[in-house]
Amino acid sequence: MVEFTAPKGVPEYFSPRSDAFLAVRDALAYPARHAGYGYAELPVFEDTALFVRGVGESTDVVSKEMYTFTDRGNRSLSLRPEGTAGVMRLVVEHRLDKGSLPVKIWYAGPFFRAERPQHGRYRQLQQVGIEAIGSDDPALDAEVIALADEAYRRLGLTRYRLDLTSLGCAQCRPAYRERLSQFLAGLDLDEATRQRAAVNPLRVLDDKRPDVREQLASAPVMVDHLCTACGQHYESVRSFLDDAGVSWSEAPHLVRGLDYYTRTTFEFTHELLGAQSGIGGGGRYDGLMESIGGADLSGIGFGLGTDRTLLACEAEGLSPGAGPSVDVFVVPIGSSARHLAVRLTTELRGDGVRVDMAYGERGLKGSMKAADRSGAPLVVIIGEDEEAAGTVQLKDMATGAQEALRLDDAMARLRTLRPAQEGSK
Ligand code: HAM
Repeated sequence: MVEFTAPKGVPEYFSPRSDAFLAVRDALAYPARHAGYGYAELPVFEDTALFVRGVGESTDVVSKEMYTFTDRGNRSLSLRPEGTAGVMRLVVEHRLDKGSLPVKIWYAGPFFRAERPQHGRYRQLQQVGIEAIGSDDPALDAEVIALADEAYRRLGLTRYRLDLTSLGCAQCRPAYRERLSQFLAGLDLDEATRQRAAVNPLRVLDDKRPDVREQLASAPVMVDHLCTACGQHYESVRSFLDDAGVSWSEAPHLVRGLDYYTRTTFEFTHELLGAQSGIGGGGRYDGLMESIGGADLSGIGFGLGTDRTLLACEAEGLSPGAGPSVDVFVVPIGSSARHLAVRLTTELRGDGVRVDMAYGERGLKGSMKAADRSGAPLVVIIGEDEEAAGTVQLKDMATGAQEALRLDDAMARLRTLRPAQEGSK
């Protein structure tokens, strides 16, 4: 029995699966990094009121799932349940919106929600997110969505879909909400659902129970009640998505768990993940910045779930980041060879080659076992005789072929193993 275990619902990643985790995280960020988004390192906890005002008091995320605590100065702080509110706070506080617009930011890291843990639903979840603030150009909506789609495609994922809708704006949503409330009042719903409808009738549209779904088939949907400006905006987003070659499905019943969304709203789901199928989502939030005390600027962004995207890759049999972690393994035999091994290893690492070496006096057999386990395709063996002759043995682990090379020639050959620069793939 171990005395301590990780907190419930918190996934941990260690090698080799952590290599896949890092590869997924990097792949999710890659398209945004190449589209003008700058990185922001944000606090993991913020003023509780920021999330209450920004994300919405009536959401489960804020009302039931926040990790809230009082610090030594008696301030109420909460672990961040999501990233958008924190980015808005950063932009307002540092006046980033006074420069050129849109402000484009990406971020990555852990978020915290006290949910009931299950496969793919965690209390510490990882996201890669982007936010583009200060423009309501529908081409920007299409960019944000296309960057998410490109990230999934780069990983090789195919069994996912994009659901898209528009949630309207402060002009057209209230009238629609009223219409929906009236419709729901005429249905045969249980008390808990009625209460949910009273807080936010749109949430009921997301009900998964067949009998409720059946009753909702003729429910009025927001996309049929958009004002002219929202209708045109939505139409443009869809045509820009077509320009970007992104396939999407109309999802008029799509509801998100956060209150700030307006107009374009979307979700990516993966068909092999079961109940927790959402691998990413986002949308526009045109009133958010003003609601936390900033200028009335619009914005759009996404949050992509790193944990769930990794699960999706595994479900599709993909192995992101697979392969040996080093290209060369150095095996010194005898104590004086160890000095040459340390020099050689350091020099190659300085040249950008991925190298490990055998530690501990374990003899040729034990060291070769370690070399084998490392997965390195090339092994440099330095014996006493070779060292005296200024040579090393180079072993190709795939073929088993071994040859003696002059040290300089061996080094020149090993330097060619330096990995290609990022972005060349
Ligand atoms: P969200 O839909 O709440 O949006 O979360 C985004 C993604 O994070 C989800 O699609 C899912 O993949 C992952 N995720 C959420 N909760 C969990 C969990 N408990 N366990 C594992 N993965 C989870 C947001 O957070 C918004 N801030 C996204 C956004 C950015 N909208 C506009 N800008």
